[in-house]
Amino acid sequence: MSEVATMTIEGEVGVLTIDSPPVNALGIATRRGLDRGFRDFAGNPAIRAIVLICGGRTFFAGADITEFGKPMQEPGLQDVFDIIEDGVKPVVAAIHGTALGGGLELALICHYRVAVPSARLGLPEVHLGLLPGAGGTQRLPRIVGVDAALDLITSGRQLSATQARELGVVDELAGEGRLREDAIAFARRLLAEDRPLLRVRDRQDMIEPARGKPEIFADFRRRNARSFRGFKAPENIIKTIEAAVALPFEEGMKREAELFADLYESTESLAQRHVFFAERQTSKIADVPADTPTLPVRSVGVIGAGTMGGGIAMNFVSAGIPVTLVEMDQAALDRGLSVIRKNYENTAKKGRMTQAQVEACMGLITPALSLDSLAEMDLIVEAVFESMAVKQDIFAKLGRVARPDAILASNTSFLDLDAIAEATTLPERVIGLHFFSPANVMRLLEVVRGARTSKQVVATAMKLARQIGKIAVLSRVCNGFIANRLMAPRMAQSEALVLEGPTPAEIDRVIYDYGFAMGPFQMIDLVGLDVIGRDANVRTLRGDLVARDRLGQKKNGGFYDYDEARKPTPSPVAATIIADFAKSEGVAAGGPQSDADILTRLLYPIVNEGARILEEGIALRAGDIDMAAILGYGWPVYTGGPMFWADTVGLPTIVARLKEMQAAHGDAFAPAHLLETMAAEGKRFSE
Ligand code: 3HC
Ligand code: NAI
Repeated sequence: MSEVATMTIEGEVGVLTIDSPPVNALGIATRRGLDRGFRDFAGNPAIRAIVLICGGRTFFAGADITEFGKPMQEPGLQDVFDIIEDGVKPVVAAIHGTALGGGLELALICHYRVAVPSARLGLPEVHLGLLPGAGGTQRLPRIVGVDAALDLITSGRQLSATQARELGVVDELAGEGRLREDAIAFARRLLAEDRPLLRVRDRQDMIEPARGKPEIFADFRRRNARSFRGFKAPENIIKTIEAAVALPFEEGMKREAELFADLYESTESLAQRHVFFAERQTSKIADVPADTPTLPVRSVGVIGAGTMGGGIAMNFVSAGIPVTLVEMDQAALDRGLSVIRKNYENTAKKGRMTQAQVEACMGLITPALSLDSLAEMDLIVEAVFESMAVKQDIFAKLGRVARPDAILASNTSFLDLDAIAEATTLPERVIGLHFFSPANVMRLLEVVRGARTSKQVVATAMKLARQIGKIAVLSRVCNGFIANRLMAPRMAQSEALVLEGPTPAEIDRVIYDYGFAMGPFQMIDLVGLDVIGRDANVRTLRGDLVARDRLGQKKNGGFYDYDEARKPTPSPVAATIIADFAKSEGVAAGGPQSDADILTRLLYPIVNEGARILEEGIALRAGDIDMAAILGYGWPVYTGGPMFWADTVGLPTIVARLKEMQAAHGDAFAPAHLLETMAAEGKRFSE
C-alpha cells in the first residue's frame, strides 16, 4: 500500500502503523501513508475504531524540517488532519518515544490519546523560531488552560507521560512495552461503552476563565521579557493563544496560520533552523565515520581540582562514571571537593537533585595526591595551571604511569597540544578536551584533534561528549582553538575602540542590544582583569588598570565602579586611565559613534577570524564555528551564529567594510582569502 504505512485489522479495530525512520517526521511519504490508511479504514465497514501507532523509536517527531523552504507536496498536513478530525470513527493515538510539534498536534486531532509511561510530549517549535502551525496553539489551551499552554508553547518544554496524563493531554497510560495491545483494548472499551467522539476544538471549559482578562497575557509578557529578548517566536505564540481565547476556533486557526507564516519567513527562524541542523552536524567527521570503534570509558582521572578540574569531574560523576581527582596537596584537594559538594547541594536546594543523589555523586569521587593513583584509568583529563612546562612534566609522567591504552586529555585553553603530546611516549593517545567555564554547566566541549591523535580516540571523545550531555565541536590545533580564537578580536577591538571615544558602557550596550548577555567590559570585570591575557612586557590599557588595583568586580572597580550589590556605574577613574593611555599611544578621539559602526568594528573581525579558522582547516565547517560561538560565548541563537549572520549581512558588505577598516587601522582587518573569494563568487557559509 505505502512505503511507510501498514494496516492490520484486529476484530473491529483497525491499526495503522507508520514507520518512517529515523523519527517518523511528517514528510510527504508519511502524509501519504496517513492519508491512504485513514481513507481505507473510513471506507471499511468492518472497522469501527482506529489505533494510530508508530514503528521505530518514536511517535511522530513533528513536521519534516528538511521540507521547510520547499514547495509543500499534497496532501498537506492539514488535509490529513481534516480527514481524521472529521471522521466518524474514534481514533486513538498510541504514543511512545517523543510526540513533538506536528506529532503532538496530530495526537491532539485524534479523539483519544494513550501513552507509555516513558513517552514525552511537547511543542518545541519555538526552538526553531516557529509556532505550532497545525492547530497546536488552538487545541492545547483547550485542554490544559491558558497559563499552562503559554508556559509549554513558549518554552518548548516536554511533558512526561504522567504529567501529560495529569493535565489531560493523555487519556490513559499504557503498560511499558504493551502499547499496541493496550491501545487496542482502550479502543474496544470506547466501542463497548459507546463513548462519544471527543473533538478538542469543541471544548470551551478550559479557556473560558481567561476570557476578558488581558492582564493574564500582559503579566506573562512582563515576567518573561528577559528570556524572550531578541526572539520573534514567543510574541507570536502569545498572540495565537490570545486568539484561541478571544476568537471562534476557525478564526483562531486563521490567526495561527498568519502568525506562523510571519515566523516562517523570518531571519530569526531561518537562523534557528540552521542551528538545529548545525548542532546535529558537529558529530559528523568525514574520516572518522560513525561506526569507528570506540574505547570504553568506565573510569576517569582528573588532575587539578581548581576552577576547571572540579567542574570537569562533576560532568563524569553526574553521568555515573567514577572519578579519581588528583591535587598537589591536601588543602587544594579539600578546597576542590568542598566546591563540588557546594555545587551539588545548590542543585539539590533548587529541587533538581535529592540529597541521596548528592551523596551518590560525591561517593563516586576518589581523592588522591599522586598520579600513581591513575594507573588503571580509561581516561585521564589534565586541568592544571596553563603552563607548558607543568603540562609536559605531567604528560611525561602519565606516559609512564597510565595504561598504554588509556586516553590522555588536556584541558589547555591556548597551549600547543602537539607539544604536550610529544612529552608522552604515545602521542596518538593524546587529545584536547577543552571545557568551558563553568565546566559542569556549559554545553560546549571542544575536542581538539592533535596531529597524531588516533581516530579511535577522536571517536571515543565525540561519543563521550554526548554521554555527559555536551555538544562536541572538533577543532584542530591552533592558538585558542575555535571559540577563544574566534572571539579574541572582539576584546581586542573593544579595547582599541574605547581609546577612540566610545565609552565602555556604550560599547557594552551595543553588544547587549545585539543579543549577548553582557558586553566585553562587563565580562572582563566579572572574570578579573588580571586573569585574561596577562602581558607583562608591553604597556596595555588593562595593565594600567591592574596597576591601579582595578581588577574588576572583585575589587569593586575595573572598567566600571561597583556598589555593594555589584551594580555597575561608569567610572570616572577608569575614564581618566583610558584617556591617559590613549594619549600615550597617540590615539585621537573621533572613532565610530553610531551603534552600527561600533558593531561593525567589533563583529566583522570575528567573521573574518572564522573564515581563517575555516580556511586553515581548524574547524570542519562553518556551522561548527557557529555552534562554538553560541554555546561557548552566548552568541545570540536567533542570529544563527557569526558565520550564518555574515550570510544574512552579505559577504561582499563585510569584505568592503573590512577593507575600509584595514585602510584606517591596519592589517589586522585584512580580509581572509576565503572570505574574499566567497564574496566574489556569491557564495554563502551556510550553503
Ligand atoms: N524533521 C526532519 N528530520 C528530523 C526531525 C524533523 N522534525 N527531527 C529529527 N530529525 C532528524 C535529525 O536531523 C537527525 O538526522 P541525521 O541522523 O541525519 O543527523 C535524525 O532525525 C535523528 O535526530 P537526533 O539526532 O536529534 O535524534 P535523537 O534521538 O537525539 O532525538 C528527537 C530525537 C527528540 C525527535 C529530536 O530529533 C528532535 O527534537 N527533533 C525535532 C523535533 C521538532 O522540533 N519538531 C517540531 C518540528 S516543526 C513542526 O512540527 C511544525 C508544525 O507545528 C507544523
Ligand atoms: P586553577 O588555578 O583554578 O586550577 C588549577 C589546579 O591545578 C590548582 O588547584 C592546582 O593546585 C592544580 N595543580 C597544579 N599543578 C598540579 C599538579 N602537578 N598535580 C595536581 N594538581 C596540580 O586553574 P583553572 O582555571 O582550573 O585552569 C586549569 C586549566 O584549564 C588551564 O590549562 C586553563 O587554561 C584551562 N581552562 C581554564 C578555563 C577557565 O575559564 N578558567 C576555561 C577553559 C580551560
